[in-house]
Amino acid sequence: MNPVTAHNKVCNLEDFSDPELRRIIRDVLAVEAARRGDSFPAGCEYRKHWEVAMAVRALAAGGALRQDAELLGVGAGNEPTLFYLTRFVRRVFATDLYLAGGEWEESASAPMLTDPGRFYSAPWHERRLVVQHMDALDLHYEDASFDGAFSSSSLEHFGGLAEVRQALAEMHRVLKPGGILSLSTEYRLAGPPPGIPGVLLFDRREIIEELGLADSERWIALDELSTDVSTATRATTLPYPETGADVRDHVARHGGLYFERLEWSRYPHLVLRDGLSAWTSVHVALRKR
Ligand SMILES: C[S@@+](CC[C@H](N)C(=O)[O-])C[C@H]1O[C@@H](n2cnc3c(N)ncnc32)[C@H](O)[C@@H]1O
Repeated sequence: MNPVTAHNKVCNLEDFSDPELRRIIRDVLAVEAARRGDSFPAGCEYRKHWEVAMAVRALAAGGALRQDAELLGVGAGNEPTLFYLTRFVRRVFATDLYLAGGEWEESASAPMLTDPGRFYSAPWHERRLVVQHMDALDLHYEDASFDGAFSSSSLEHFGGLAEVRQALAEMHRVLKPGGILSLSTEYRLAGPPPGIPGVLLFDRREIIEELGLADSERWIALDELSTDVSTATRATTLPYPETGADVRDHVARHGGLYFERLEWSRYPHLVLRDGLSAWTSVHVALRKR
């Protein structure tokens, strides 16, 4: 069930023991691997690390990690994916509302525009990263510009389903035919739609119908969606208020370094609950026809 060899799947605790995913997490988060030792990520399983690794794995499987390739990160903040991918491709474009300030200041950090290196500690190619302030709903690129695109933990914050559709249409437009799209967003395990305030939580039907999987005229899914969630994964459920306090504490100590030097109160950090709502991450991987 829900094999980690799949690309279209919900995050499960068991995924962190998969040799390939483990290798990617350790490679992208090399500083964390050095700090935590040989067992990492065992004992500190974190769904945002899973999202990054799933994006890298899908882009690699889809053939988008080549020295002549150009990749696009949408709502990309300062995530490590941006930096890590510069090792494998010609250029990575990072886009987010970097100048907007406000609630996203710690991920869409303005210094990404001038000094991105402060947000990643492992090796990367600084001449291959282009950082631009840009709305995901209005990408300023020509049609068919990119070999791959990725967007993690972002779609659910763009507004309603109309904005999600617009962002998906934009990502489709700027991908080359055959280009790969990796999306990570929230999978609703419990609670009513549309989610919690400011965050869409998608159920299986919405993932299939809204995130391109059912749109076979425009996309080819890398594989079939599995939404199985193991008992061990469900047992990891943490209260959202507690995880929110962890994040505020981390930001106060380290600023926008959201993926490194993490010391969450409890691990695994995979399933969150707020009132009636519970959710974890889901990854969708598509190829543009
Ligand atoms: C939870 S953060 C995730 C950031 C990053 N992808 C990561 O995984 O750390 C959500 C991001 O979505 C961005 N965002 C929200 N609305 C956006 C829009 N209309 N266009 C581009 N980015 C947007 C925010 O600025 C923020 O950086």
